[in-house]
Amino acid sequence: MTQPIPQSEIQSISQLTQSPDIVQNFRALLERYPGEVVFSTSFSWEDQAISHLIFNEALQIQVFTLDTGRLFPETYSTWSRTLEKYNQPITAFYPNSSTLQQFVAEKGPNSFYESVDNRKQCCFIRKVEPLQRALKNKKVWVTGIRAAHSPNRSDMQQIEWDGANNIVKYHPLLHWTTTEVKAFISDNNIPYNPLHDKGFVSIGCAPCTRAIKPGEDFRAGRWWWEDATKKECGLHVHEENVKM
Ligand code: ADX
Ligand code: SF4
Repeated sequence: MTQPIPQSEIQSISQLTQSPDIVQNFRALLERYPGEVVFSTSFSWEDQAISHLIFNEALQIQVFTLDTGRLFPETYSTWSRTLEKYNQPITAFYPNSSTLQQFVAEKGPNSFYESVDNRKQCCFIRKVEPLQRALKNKKVWVTGIRAAHSPNRSDMQQIEWDGANNIVKYHPLLHWTTTEVKAFISDNNIPYNPLHDKGFVSIGCAPCTRAIKPGEDFRAGRWWWEDATKKECGLHVHEENVKM
């Protein structure tokens, strides 16, 4: 059953996140929703910047990652270096093992190249369903989404309602430029995925991500064999009609 959109809660979360100081916004959210604010990291440079803000201040925001089992070795090493630097927990959510076992037994390990349906099924099993578990009973989901990532993301708002997961999303870096993100990483000596220095801008699973050439779209390296209009994996469903 579809839940009614909690307008007043969205309004209140919006008011709590108006400061240009992201840490101040996090503190305001935590005071109002203790234990109910979570942040998802894919260890991209945006996500590393946000992790830095959270870990440096030891904020009680649960940081989690969706370990699809198909990430790049460089992503796992960035994860390790982050644990070493900050010594704070990152919770990993995994695909349901019996569902994954059945899917791979039926279709093989690389069926995502064969059809969009297979690809979406793989993303659902490895990312979307674990995400649903990670967001259960939470109020605010912080992400590293930026408007510059894609035309689809360019008209997003910092605060959005996610009806699929029944949660409010907060994108604190929405209006940061790539130059600003890189400068923040370098100024604060934050560990980052070395693939970013090799032409990879948006990094997901290894078999589904490649480097992009100068001038290519930010997300051109994701599911590059598919039609550009299908390139979302279901983690971020952008709901035009309920955008705040
Ligand atoms: S995706 O939908 O195409 O996969 P993208 O890579 O642009 O997403 O990342 C956008 C945001 O989604 C990240 O900043 C992060 O908050 C979240 N995200 C993406 N992949 C993961 C992952 N594997 N684990 C946790 N969060 C993720
Ligand atoms: Fe599967 Fe590729 Fe989606 Fe990763 S990005 S979950 S490997 S289809």
